[in-house]
Amino acid sequence: MSKTILVTGGAGFIGSNYCRYVLQHHPDYRVIVLDALTYAGNLSTLADIQQSVDRTDRFRFYPGRIQDETVVNGLLRSERVDYIVNCAAESHNDRSLLEPGSFIQTDVYGVFILLDAAKRHGIERILHVSTDEVYGTADTGRFTEQSPLAPNTPYAASKAGGELQARAHRVAYGTPVLVTRCGNNFGPYQYPEKLLPFFITRLIDRKKVPLYGTGEQVRDWIFVMDHCSGIDFVLHHGTPGEVYNIGADCERTNLEVTHRLLQLLDRPETLIRPIPDPRGAAHDRRYSVDASRLRSLGWRPTHPFDTALEQTVRWYVEHQTWWREIVARPDYQAFLQRFYGPYLGEDL
Ligand code: NAD
Ligand code: DAU
Repeated sequence: MSKTILVTGGAGFIGSNYCRYVLQHHPDYRVIVLDALTYAGNLSTLADIQQSVDRTDRFRFYPGRIQDETVVNGLLRSERVDYIVNCAAESHNDRSLLEPGSFIQTDVYGVFILLDAAKRHGIERILHVSTDEVYGTADTGRFTEQSPLAPNTPYAASKAGGELQARAHRVAYGTPVLVTRCGNNFGPYQYPEKLLPFFITRLIDRKKVPLYGTGEQVRDWIFVMDHCSGIDFVLHHGTPGEVYNIGADCERTNLEVTHRLLQLLDRPETLIRPIPDPRGAAHDRRYSVDASRLRSLGWRPTHPFDTALEQTVRWYVEHQTWWREIVARPDYQAFLQRFYGPYLGEDL
């Protein structure tokens, strides 16, 4: 049956890939994007979608912030929306350590505005995309949906705050909200501030890559399209009020991942620059996502890490216009100077 999905944050990394996923896998669905086009949101990220749906009414873009009540309610009055998938967020831990305020605005208050609007407009389902970082660090064992919330950065705490709003809305008003928690994503169109796109783009240019501390921290990686298939599976088959982990059982240390990038791009080890850990005590040592609940319902990731990583590196090599336009911006360069300048100096 034909549905219309509002994807908030659809001009970002996961949101845009989710739009691609829906347009490809649900030929009768419409997708509407609401995005504030912050530093991390780019219309160029949606250019291929705009072209592919040219002359159809399957895709529409609205600029605006999710915490702007007037914009959100106006949109839901003028468009018939069945589902909301919230990918809008401030999403980078390092930035949250510098300036936490915007994280609370978007990741907590913005989620509240979306939940409130979903209730008012009788939205069938609203899925809130969250993160495994709400669990904090997994020194032993794995994160299950029952693990306690113990966030360690302002970003992770804001995401936990958004989730608690979702929980309370379900209990207090019966809002049909579902929550997903996923580990570290990688793939095309990821803003070059996160480990993989940051290192890949710098290594393409033969620049040094700043590895925090010893590089022994473990992240649980998943290709973005597997995350998107998980979101879509939960949206259609999940139970409102429930939380679902999404993961691909792929733990790697940062050092291992960095060495693999050096191999794929044929670059020397001397390009690794270990730096004092800028996250300090807030740096989670290990993430480990137990997604057996979702798997027991029939969902599976289908992209093995090694081939997906190779494909991702190739994508950045072949799409240099997309990321070079971003890294040339003054705000990008200013962030690098502020955050990495003290460590990298002339190698920046
Ligand atoms: P991103 O930073 O690439 O994109 C975020 C998008 O949201 C951008 O397009 C930005 O313009 C938009 N946005 C920001 N504030 C907004 C606001 N107030 N109103 C409307 N739009 C706004 O982030 P991402 O990596 O795509 O992450 C998307 C979601 O997935 C986030 O909720 C994040 O917490 C979650 N998540 C990310 C990962 C990961 O590895 N990237 C893993 C698990 C969960
Ligand atoms: O686990 C899910 C989370 O994964 C998401 O919720 C976040 O939105 C997403 O940004 C990501 O968070 P991380 O903090 O784990 O991702 P990041 O790519 O910033 O860092 C990954 C690891 O690499 C982390 O241990 C810090 C390290 N690192 C990162 C950067 C940017 C470095 O060593 N050097 C770097 O320059």
